Amino acid sequence: MRKIAVVNQKGGVGKTTLTGNLAYALAKQGKRVLLIDMDPQSHLAASLGVVDRGLSGIDRVLINQEPMEKHAVLVRDNLNLIPAGKELGMLEKRCDQKGVDGWSGTLLKEALERSQIQSDFLIIDSPPSSGVLVVNILYAVEEVLIPVTGDYLGLQGLSYLIGTLRNFEQSLGHKLRRNLVMSRFQKRRRLAREVRDKVQSYFPGELLKTPIRECDALAEAPGFGKSVIEYRWHAPSSRDFKSLAKDLLQERTYS
Ligand SMILES: Nc1ncnc2c1ncn2[C@@H]1O[C@H](COP(=O)(O)OP(=O)(O)O)[C@@H](O)[C@H]1O
Ligand SMILES: [Mg+2]
Repeated sequence: MRKIAVVNQKGGVGKTTLTGNLAYALAKQGKRVLLIDMDPQSHLAASLGVVDRGLSGIDRVLINQEPMEKHAVLVRDNLNLIPAGKELGMLEKRCDQKGVDGWSGTLLKEALERSQIQSDFLIIDSPPSSGVLVVNILYAVEEVLIPVTGDYLGLQGLSYLIGTLRNFEQSLGHKLRRNLVMSRFQKRRRLAREVRDKVQSYFPGELLKTPIRECDALAEAPGFGKSVIEYRWHAPSSRDFKSLAKDLLQERTYS
C-alpha cells in the first residue's frame, strides 16, 4: 500500500480538492483507495456527498482506539472514507493547550497497523496547521503530496513547509518520499509559469507532470457531493485528475 499525506499548512491551496478528486480518479482506474479525513472541518466527506453531521470517524479511532473498520464508509466502488468525526477538533485543541495530554504522535500509525482494511492507496487529507494532527499524519505515511499555488505566497509557504518537513524527518530518522503538484494553476499567468519553473528547478524530479488548472467545475462539484469527474466528465479538471492519477502511478514528472 502506498501511504500518502496531502499536506500544506496554508489553507485554500487545494488540499481537500486534490485528495478527493485524485482518490476518485485512482479508484476509477481500478485501485482500491482508503481516504482518511484528518481535518476537523470535515470538508472531504462533504465533498464526496457524506453529510451526516453525527457521524463519528477517525476521532473515535484516535481517542478510544476503536477499529478503523468500524468507521470506514464505502463512498464509491473501490473508495472507502473514514470521516473526521466531530471530536477531532477538540482533540487538537486539548493537545495544544495541555501538551501531549497522554496521547502520542503515533496513534494514527498504530491504528493503521491494527487495521484489516485492504487497499492499494491510503490518502490522508490534512488540516491547515502544523499541530498534533499533522504529526500523527506524518508518522503514519511514507510519502507526502504537496499542492503548490502559482503565486508568490505559495512559494513562500512551500519553503516554510519544506523546513518543517526536514525537522520532522530528522526526528523520524529517515526521509519521506515527496511529490509536488501545481494547484489552481492559471497557465496564462506569467507568474504561475514562473513559480512552476522555480518549483521544478528547486525540486527536480518531484513535481508531478500534470498541473491542476483553476476551473469552475472543480469548485462547483463539492456542492453536489461529487468528484469533478462525476460532475463534469468533460471539464478540463476532469482530464487533469485522470492524468494526475497516471502521473502518480507511473512516476511521471514535469521537465
Ligand atoms: N483548481 C481549482 N479550481 C477552482 N477552484 C478550486 C481549485 N482548487 C480548489 N478550489 C476551490 O478553492 C477552495 C479551497 O480549496 P480546498 O481544496 O478546500 O483547499 P484546502 O483544503 O487546502 O484548504 C475551495 O472552495 C475549492 O473548491
Ligand atoms: Mg481542506
